[in-house]
This record gives sequence, structure tokens and C-alpha cells, in this order.
Amino acid sequence: MPKKIVSIVGARPQFVKAAVVSRQIQLCEAVTEVMVHSGQHYDFELSNVFFEQLSLPPPEHHLAVGSGSHAQQTADILTACEEVLLAEKPDWVLVYGDTNTTLAGALAAAKLCIPVAHVESGLRSFNRAMPEEVNRIVTDSISDVLFAPTKTAFDQLRTEGQPESNIELVGDVMYDAALQFGELAQKSSKVIDELGIAGAEFVLSTIHRAENTDDLGRLGNIMQALADLSKSTIVVLPLHPRTKHAIARLNWPDERFGRIRFIPPASFLDMLQLEKSAQLIVTDSGGVQKEAYFHRVPCVTLRTETEWVELVEHGWNRLLDPRQPEVMARGLLQASANSGEDIQLYGNGDAAQKIVARLAG
Ligand code: UD1
Repeated sequence: MPKKIVSIVGARPQFVKAAVVSRQIQLCEAVTEVMVHSGQHYDFELSNVFFEQLSLPPPEHHLAVGSGSHAQQTADILTACEEVLLAEKPDWVLVYGDTNTTLAGALAAAKLCIPVAHVESGLRSFNRAMPEEVNRIVTDSISDVLFAPTKTAFDQLRTEGQPESNIELVGDVMYDAALQFGELAQKSSKVIDELGIAGAEFVLSTIHRAENTDDLGRLGNIMQALADLSKSTIVVLPLHPRTKHAIARLNWPDERFGRIRFIPPASFLDMLQLEKSAQLIVTDSGGVQKEAYFHRVPCVTLRTETEWVELVEHGWNRLLDPRQPEVMARGLLQASANSGEDIQLYGNGDAAQKIVARLAG
């Protein structure tokens, strides 16, 4: 009998990670997969487009929880997952990353004594004001197998007392994804032409973290810095709905945003193309920091800490504090010239294969 894995996903980056792991599961006779979508992300651009483009199997269970406060959303996913897990009786529950879906999926399984495997385990920002940090710590502490993407993450789990036999350093599934979907993006994405920026130098920016969007002072500093930058170079900003709502609350006249090109949230393939072609990436996303490095594009992260510390250590990423507008503006102007050491930081592109081998074993 093949082992049954229930994979629980719900937010945009999880669909990408699950796509590469799902592909490996389909190639392995010793395991089968049941996909559960929590419904944390529900807009077409944040959800369906990923399933379509990345050939992710449609979810067998869609929990349709939608948005809400942290407690409400987590509780809704927890309750709905319990019902699915009781019916499916899997051998493993597989969760990804650090969202409310990750936490709720892992907790529902742990309470039913179903073994939990966590992909992207061991990352820490050491900032408990971030909801993601709380999600990571709790999920890791109740998981049975911890798939660490980096040596730093592996060492962190050891430091926290996790037995070495439960931790596996597999590399980063996002690197697998960039390799697997890079060619498809090159062939099929039309985003650069559609934006009319073929051959042009441009800065790509994404901002969506609660710490940057919910504090209007901080968001205003970021938007001002990007607006100033847009006077000398094209700035392309795909807008997460959270950021769109927050920007509306700034109540700025249009001209104050300079020549920032606001566009709808980009699909994964369009994002890969934009990242690859940009001269500089300015972000607060974890995934985008690494994708910048995969394409060897300099990156600035508008946060005071990052979970992906090796990018900063090796010169590929620079942290700038959005609470310090002058330092941020100066840093952004200099950042295109940054470059780092040419080393392999996130594995060999076979993280998904290693994950499935462990679950099948
Ligand atoms: C979530 C994750 C974050 C991850 C991000 C990826 C948590 C705590 N955070 O953040 O770690 O980096 O996903 O994108 O789980 N909204 C829509 N349409 C949607 C989804 C959300 O309009 O399809 C709006 C709603 O107003 C919602 C807000 O965006 O309240 C925030 O969504 P939520 O899923 O809570 O968090 P994200 O910021 O997306």
C-alpha cells in the first residue's frame, strides 16, 4: 500500500513549493497525495493562476476559509482540517512555510497523532512581532520531520534541541521551482513586452508584509523612496491586495507616487521573468529575496532582519530599515551596483526529490 500524504496549502508561495513536491510524488509509486487548499488566498491572481500554470493537481478538499483575524482564520482552518484528516486518515501531513495555513494544518494533524512533515523548517527572524515567526516556531516544535532548506536552519533546529534524526537538510524547494519553471517562464511569459519595458533598465519591487503595510508611517516612507527612485528609473510594483488597501489609506494624490508602475499581482511565471530582467529588486518577501539571488540580481530587503541570512553574509542582499527614510533612499540609489560571491547556497535543485524519498521510506 502506498503511503498517503495529505498536503495542506493555502497561500501563494505554498502553491509554488507544493507544485515541485507534487511532481515528485507523482513519479514515486510508494506515495500518493491528497491536496487540501485552505482558501487563505482566494483571488484568481493569488490562487487559481498558480494551479493552472504550474500544473498543480486541483485540490480534493477546498476549505474556503477566506480572510479574517489571525485567530479566526487559524481556528477556521484548524476545524476544517480536522474533519478532512479524520476522513482521509493519512500517513503524513505535509505543510509548507510559515503562514496561518501551515500552523493550523500542523496543529490539526499533531492533535490527531498524525505525523507532520514541515518543508522550510528552521528559519528564524528572531522577531516575534511577525506572525510568521510564531507560526514557524510552533509548527517546528510539533513536526515529526523537519526539512531544512539551509545549513543555518539545520543548525538552528539542533540548537533548539530537535533530534538530528528528525531533521533533514534538503535544500530549498524554491530553487527547484526556479530551475523547473525558468524555461517555461522564458517561453510563455509576455509580461516584459506587455509592460513595454523590453531592453529597459527597471527596478522590481514587492511589498506585502504586515509590518510594512499596516504601519502607514512605514508604508509612506517606502512609497516615497520608490516614488523618488522612479524619477530616474522605471519602478514596477505588482500589488498584493493587502498593500493595495493600505496604499489607498495613505490618501496621497496620484502625482506623489511619481512614475511607479503599479500592476496586478504577477503569476509565478511572470514574476520569474520580471525578476530575471530587473536591474535591482526591492522587496520584503522571503521568496523574492532568494529568487533575486537565483538570477544573480542585487536585492534590497526593506526589513530589519531576514530569515535568509546567508544572502546578506555573501553580499547578495542588503537590509534597509523603512523607519529611516534617508538611509533607505541613499541605500536604494547605491544598491544596483551590489553583487555577491558566486556560490551555491540553496542545494542542488533536488530538494523535492529528497523530501519525497524520506516520506516514502
Ligand atoms: C500571507 C502569509 C505570509 C505570506 C503571504 C504570501 C500569514 C500570517 N501570512 O500573508 O507569510 O508571505 O501570505 O502572499 O499567513 N486578501 C485578498 N485576497 C486574497 C487573499 C488576501 O484580498 O486572495 C487580502 C485580505 O484583505 C486579507 C489580506 O489580503 O485580509 C491579508 O491576507 P492574509 O492571507 O491574511 O495574509 P498575507 O498578507 O497574504
